[in-house]
Amino acid sequence: MRTEGQGLLQPHLAPSSTPPADPLCGRRILVGISGSIAAVKLPLLVSALVQRGAEVRCVLTPSAERLVSAASLACLSRQPCCLEADQWSHRAPRPLHVELAEWAELVLLAPLSATTLARWVHGLGDTLLASTLLACEAPVLAAAAMNTSMWASPGVRANWQALQSFPTVLPLGPESGLLACDRQGQGRMADPELLLLALESLALWGPKRDWQGRGLLVSAGPTREPLDPARCLTNPSTGRMGVLLAQAARLRGARVELVHGPLALPAGWLEGLNAEAVLTAAEMRQALLARQPGVQAVAMVAAVADHRRSQPLDTKLDKQALEQALASGWEPVPDLLAELVHGRPRGQRILGFAAQTGDVLPQARVKFARKGCDLLFANPIDQPQAGFGGHSTSGWLLGPGDQVGVLPTARKLAVAHHLLSALAA
Ligand SMILES: Cc1cc2nc3c(=O)[nH]c(=O)nc-3n(C[C@H](O)[C@H](O)[C@H](O)COP(=O)(O)O)c2cc1C
Repeated sequence: MRTEGQGLLQPHLAPSSTPPADPLCGRRILVGISGSIAAVKLPLLVSALVQRGAEVRCVLTPSAERLVSAASLACLSRQPCCLEADQWSHRAPRPLHVELAEWAELVLLAPLSATTLARWVHGLGDTLLASTLLACEAPVLAAAAMNTSMWASPGVRANWQALQSFPTVLPLGPESGLLACDRQGQGRMADPELLLLALESLALWGPKRDWQGRGLLVSAGPTREPLDPARCLTNPSTGRMGVLLAQAARLRGARVELVHGPLALPAGWLEGLNAEAVLTAAEMRQALLARQPGVQAVAMVAAVADHRRSQPLDTKLDKQALEQALASGWEPVPDLLAELVHGRPRGQRILGFAAQTGDVLPQARVKFARKGCDLLFANPIDQPQAGFGGHSTSGWLLGPGDQVGVLPTARKLAVAHHLLSALAA
């Protein structure tokens, strides 16, 4: 990101017509699979990684070999699958666990069973996967999965706690839901879509936890202002930028509160966030104001409607009445970002977003001065590779003292990490 100060020429943002590189493309990813029934979800995840251009090799524990097909994994990864017996092959010129550990740029350890967790934390290398983990210096995304009582047992709790201090590890605890053992509770492996997101985050940012101990409130998605029971005023926001920012912060250790309008995203992306769904700007306002006092920072990413009906209608209008209703009866929605800034507790930092078309920067400067937030990210929504819904964006980050940073076109997750670093500063 380039930063320029007051009095300099307007920082130029070159539009990009090509999508930015996927951080997983071309990376050597080792997928370690241990003996949990969640292993059956791995072949499709491996396939998704390969489709994104990653080079993937899989290692199975003996228990995993009995739960998921090594042939499927080999076929989908386009590489031989490494099994326990391969460790002792007379054809291998080097110990396989060392070769795999040195080959890997990133490791996805999913599912992580109680047994493999215990081996790893206690430094035992008595399977190919366990010895590979001990020999490996690459960052590891570790996604635990097990029965609820196993997860709650004191030994597993202690081992999981110990794993938190491993400097190269990004641990993802299991989610709640219906388990294969018919129990309802915590133990389900994180959603594969979330694992892909977390792996991308690991590739971009590593396992650093600089937001540990801090709370972040994020708003995301559009709001929907009803005109009558069949029609509403809304916008094309999908919530991608806001939810990626929320997940990036959570992966960096933050306690995240998310308030969101209707989203068009994988449901798994909401895991691990304290999320509340709302529809209207009034509901969003209420939910945000209730959560604001408990956090150190706020990121107001949601695309909140500018207008709403003064008197909501409870019967559907016919076409003639609709034309009249479109022309009158609307009122402006109070400025939510300005209200959050006005009522913030001491020391709380606030990042605003401005989606603009045309000559973005002058409009953004006016908005920034009016809102009073610490940072404002102004992004052009009329440029290729930017705007609502897509994977990438670009823009200007306005900060104190008329500082303007240019963020060239990048994946939204990369932009989220930039913005979090600026917000934490
Ligand atoms: C059908 C089945 C499902 C299992 N699911 C889990 C699980 O989700 N998590 C877990 O920790 N163990 C699970 N186990 C038990 C492990 O497979 C067992 O503890 C084994 O020792 C794990 O070894 P590994 O870590 O080397 O794969 C399951 C066992 C079976 C037979």
